[in-house]
Amino acid sequence: MSSLREGPTTVVRREDYAPPAYWIDTVELTFDLDPAKTRVLNKMHLRRNAQVPAQPLRLDGEDLNLARVLVNGAGCSFKMDDGQLVLDNLPEGEQGFDLEIFTTCMPEKNSQLMGLYVSQGTFFTQCEAEGFRRITYFLDRPDVMASYTVTLRADKARYPVLLSNGNLVEQGELDAGRHFAKWVDPHKKPSYLFALVAGNLVAREQRIVSRSGNEHLLQVYVRPGDMDKTEHAMNSLIASVVWDEARFGLPLDLERFMIVATSDFNMGAMENKGLNIFNTKYVLANSATATDTDFANIESVVGHEYFHNWSGNRVTCRDWFQLSLKEGLTVFRDQEFSMDLCAEPSARAVKRIEDVRVLRTAQFPEDAGPMAHPVRPDSYVEINNFYTVTVYEKGAEVVRMMQTLVGRDGFAKGLALYFQRHDGQAVTCDDFAQAIADANPDSELARRLPQFKRWYSQAGTPRVRAEGHFDAAQRRYTLTLTQSCVPTPGQPAKQPFVIPMALGLLDAQGREIAIDPAQARHVLAEASETLSFENIDAEPVPSLLRGFSAPVVLDFDYTDAQLLSLLAHDTDPFNRWEAGQRLTLRRALAAIQDSGPVNPAPLDAAAIEALRAVLRHDTLDAAFKELVLTLPSETYMAEQLPVVDPQRIHAVREAMRSQLAEALHDDWVWAFEAHADSGAYRPDPVSAGRRALTGMALGMLCIAARTRHDPVWPGKTYQRFKDAHNMTDRFNALSALVVSGHALAREALDRFHTLFQHEALVIDKWFALQAAAPDHGGNVLPLVRQLMAHPDFQLRNPNRARSVIFSYCNANPGAFHRADAAGYVFWRERVLEIDRFNPQVAARLARALDRWKKLAEPYRSAAREAIARVAAQTDLSNDVREVVTRALADE
Ligand code: TRP
Ligand code: ZN
Repeated sequence: MSSLREGPTTVVRREDYAPPAYWIDTVELTFDLDPAKTRVLNKMHLRRNAQVPAQPLRLDGEDLNLARVLVNGAGCSFKMDDGQLVLDNLPEGEQGFDLEIFTTCMPEKNSQLMGLYVSQGTFFTQCEAEGFRRITYFLDRPDVMASYTVTLRADKARYPVLLSNGNLVEQGELDAGRHFAKWVDPHKKPSYLFALVAGNLVAREQRIVSRSGNEHLLQVYVRPGDMDKTEHAMNSLIASVVWDEARFGLPLDLERFMIVATSDFNMGAMENKGLNIFNTKYVLANSATATDTDFANIESVVGHEYFHNWSGNRVTCRDWFQLSLKEGLTVFRDQEFSMDLCAEPSARAVKRIEDVRVLRTAQFPEDAGPMAHPVRPDSYVEINNFYTVTVYEKGAEVVRMMQTLVGRDGFAKGLALYFQRHDGQAVTCDDFAQAIADANPDSELARRLPQFKRWYSQAGTPRVRAEGHFDAAQRRYTLTLTQSCVPTPGQPAKQPFVIPMALGLLDAQGREIAIDPAQARHVLAEASETLSFENIDAEPVPSLLRGFSAPVVLDFDYTDAQLLSLLAHDTDPFNRWEAGQRLTLRRALAAIQDSGPVNPAPLDAAAIEALRAVLRHDTLDAAFKELVLTLPSETYMAEQLPVVDPQRIHAVREAMRSQLAEALHDDWVWAFEAHADSGAYRPDPVSAGRRALTGMALGMLCIAARTRHDPVWPGKTYQRFKDAHNMTDRFNALSALVVSGHALAREALDRFHTLFQHEALVIDKWFALQAAAPDHGGNVLPLVRQLMAHPDFQLRNPNRARSVIFSYCNANPGAFHRADAAGYVFWRERVLEIDRFNPQVAARLARALDRWKKLAEPYRSAAREAIARVAAQTDLSNDVREVVTRALADE
């Protein structure tokens, strides 16, 4: 795993799965917690698995000091092999045997944040995927489920709060100022769900009674100064409990459910049974320090981890290739949760558009690059590299398609059958799909299950090409749909997918034409199919893939007039937004592919008027307007091009934005004034939409001010920055000044830093905003190097490292891809520097150059060189090694 730096890298293959040779029934862990040297006593009861041939017991371990091994209380012989503890000649017999292992580890030296580590004086654990082996020797695999009893002992003054999974059964004093707490988890679990926390924390508490009448204690633990930022997380947790019971009949199965926040965390959050551990970013919020986006993210991450209690914990994964079994399903569930919490249908559509935007800007590129893998991968070197947007977001789309194919009620029935069949088991993606199909025997899913499951086995984003033909004499419109999918690493040829194609037709006036409901829910399963629509009077405008009914690229040669009609009239809000995106994307791509200097006005009058009409529309809501008026991202534009010149893409998008800023100047003024007051702060979608649109208007007005030499709007923006009652308005104003490059930006940034110097999450925003700011003559890279020298910068804190380095390398293509290759040199230095202490974070950064093969010269050669120089290092982690090796491989 991560820390192995010598010897051959081993590839783990799905086809090699074998059940464990032993079962672990019970585990009794005793921790003597000390940052420098923690002692761990592990008493297990094991049994041979009679299903498999007799063989030695091989226990996983990593970075442990082994002091003692006892079998049934007596010393025994053992050996070490490849980091594993190997025990032979174990007692035979049905009753099994006791194994006692005593080890020590060094939490304060644990910089990779896997296993037991210390963050700001508090102990935390992170065991998924393979971190438990850094705590004790174990069968560290998800199909070995045991009952845990955990005793924590520590200094009482420094570690007054001692938490682990399940129920607190005993606590008391020990000598020398120490105390203990004993926890028993009533549920069996795999080792990756183990957790402990010990430190000086305070908790917001709430008692709730569930639908079924059971009482539960909910707790959100934070550092003592952060209590005033826990209300939203608690409300989100309560809403999650209520929702899972109401929508899927899944109750909370614990007396006590705890969330604990830490500022040192590799990912977002972790669903440890009854003791979720969260990155502070996804817990702490109040109106003064968190934006609307933060509030929304907290709601969905709290939901996500809570929903894992069923989809992940009660039913878990047989092996890590099945990761999407829990992650795809749980992302789907958290998306549905956030949508169901929206009061307005339009807010549901906004959420769907945001989710699709993530899929298309992050997952589609992954699917087209060197790290492309199926939702259920076939092999890996380092499992941490497969916590990807493909496993999570595309996996969620696969679950969503199942719901589309069996209907909402059918899906709820399917999920009930899944939990009824597999409660307490470690299962596969096949088991999941089978349960959904079996509960809906007459569905399109059941009829085509083997073919549908290609979504799990074939990587790559399918394309659907649609061609319409109108026959006026026959009054018939035919639509031919053809699917294809390009090769991905290891998969030269693809079989057709099952693609739900929600669709409709609009007439010349933009009205919905009534069609056969079965055609409106067409399922494309052949390589090519033709649909006929009868009694059509004039050539209709097809609205295809409504609601983004499948994770595919849709090609249809829309005329501008057709796109304008869809943008003005489509009843499907997703496609209405999509039409606007296609319209602006088309013009951007034309300007990018033009030769000569960048056209300063890439948009034509018709497109501008259409966007103005959306902005000024009297019934569309503000959040939706903001999405339509947001131009496709540079990353999304790059994906549409065979050869990518990041500088030119950046220049064209900036030109378009300036053009919109200027052409719609009076409309931006109107938009700002009409929405500027969103009342007392509440993070609901409607008022958040108003803030988003005013933020956008200010951004545009500051951009327009540059050519107009207008001091008024930047001045107003600075005033709003100073007077804001909430972080969303304040940060949007700050960002408008920074993005437009106005002189007031410096003053505002300094003021912001002074105001929030004690709020780590706000300081992260301060760093990120500067590292992601538009480049002017190469100014961003020197600024980024300067930011890294700032006293508040801490490379070892993942949030802080991400706020500067990832914001620059991943979120600022126009500044990162430099003709002098200095951005790539910076990237290489940081990947190697971080890899020495945190391979997981380093490997994520390493992926910033995944798409190097698409780059134009001189970027392409320079990027290749940078990757090759990383790959040439002899002491890389497996994590980074796997990423750079794949980046350099030829398909
Ligand atoms: N299971 C977690 C989630 O998606 C993911 C996670 C949190 C994780 N921390 C991790 C995965 C560390 C790997 C390593 O909810
Ligand atoms: Zn998850």
